[in-house]
Amino acid sequence: MGKGALSGESVPTVDFDRDVDREGTASLKYDGRREVFGTDEVIPLWVADMDFAAPAAVTQALAQRAMHPVYGYTVYPDSLYDSLMGWLKHRHDWEVRREWIMMCPGVVPSLYAAVTAFSAAGGSVVVQPPVYFPFFSAVTDSGRRLVHNPLRLREGRYTVDFDHLEQCAADASLLLLCSPHNPVGRVWSEPELERVLRIAQAHDLVVFSDEVHADLVYPGNRHRVLARLALQADGTCRNIVTAVAPSKAFNIPGLNLSALVVPDPACRDALARVFDAMHVSASNPFSIVAFEAAYREGGPWLDALMEYLRHSREEVAGYLAAHVPEIRLVEPEGTYLLWLDCRALAVRLGMNDSQLRHFFVREAGVGMSPGTLFGEVGSGFMRLNLGTPRRTLRTALERIRDAVHGAGPALP
Ligand SMILES: Cc1ncc(COP(=O)(O)O)c(C=O)c1O
Repeated sequence: MGKGALSGESVPTVDFDRDVDREGTASLKYDGRREVFGTDEVIPLWVADMDFAAPAAVTQALAQRAMHPVYGYTVYPDSLYDSLMGWLKHRHDWEVRREWIMMCPGVVPSLYAAVTAFSAAGGSVVVQPPVYFPFFSAVTDSGRRLVHNPLRLREGRYTVDFDHLEQCAADASLLLLCSPHNPVGRVWSEPELERVLRIAQAHDLVVFSDEVHADLVYPGNRHRVLARLALQADGTCRNIVTAVAPSKAFNIPGLNLSALVVPDPACRDALARVFDAMHVSASNPFSIVAFEAAYREGGPWLDALMEYLRHSREEVAGYLAAHVPEIRLVEPEGTYLLWLDCRALAVRLGMNDSQLRHFFVREAGVGMSPGTLFGEVGSGFMRLNLGTPRRTLRTALERIRDAVHGAGPALP
């Protein structure tokens, strides 16, 4: 595989406006619509994958691998680790040692493994809703207790309730941190992360820092790797597990490969025991080459993507403010997910959450994720996935506008 670009090189021309027909590709987002929404007649702006073609370097690496006709068991090659270490160093100023890296078949499986590794049966795990819903199921499916530290929403911006986090931490052993935060789009600042660290250290909490959205950050914000803020003199840090993957940034989530970076040997041992018990072994040949190609050569594509998404985000914000002010956008600092505050609309129409969801599906023909999926505090919100050509977004916005303008209060 060629050396390629990591950062700072010229941005290539990538046509994010190009429509890619995904129907019939066993796509959850498209082919799963009938099951999820009860109809195929919705513009799907829900599950977190994008409608854009992956970087050409990824497609080429996959095609080249496919041409070799033996698809046997694999090992993780040195070049795979090198690509991740190079990416973290160049993009996140984080020097990672090879022995800290544990490859996993996705971030969510590693979240489940962390819950088993770092909490006892019946023990408490802290989550900060509204949050990506497997943060809940990883805890409850494993027979642990969820301790909620809801984010606070003030003047359109979410923050961590640190006083309450301190109380929650007192009898918990693990904090699941989402950084940047899906669905509210916060890119946590260094002072915020420092406070999280201080609380975690004071209460001997392990922090599982899910940083899968770390590369999807808008100008004016900077993602800080939590572990990097906790470095000790020897370059390691205690009790922090960082999950990273090229899946979200380079739009290859269906390939199911991620990595944990775990400088603390005790944490590594605990996780290794869980992975061994589940017989999690090396991944498939395609995931491996795609992972490596994305981190090694995808930088310029990603820069172009962020430019495109930034414009899309601004267009949606402008459109809603001008045409549908009852829906307020919680301005994201990162991620391609938009958190829409529809509470005023729901009140005017006299709708509960289920009615609100159906309203968008049936009246607007737009399939978004309902806010309550991310916890009770998501009531009255919807999550919209921005990762689609702008023409499609415009159609979805027009449909929402027409539905909202044409709607009266719900029938009892
Ligand atoms: C915060 C977060 N973590 C993990 C995932 C999924 O990770 P994976 O597909 O690697 O299991 C997502 C997907 O949306 C996510 O938003």
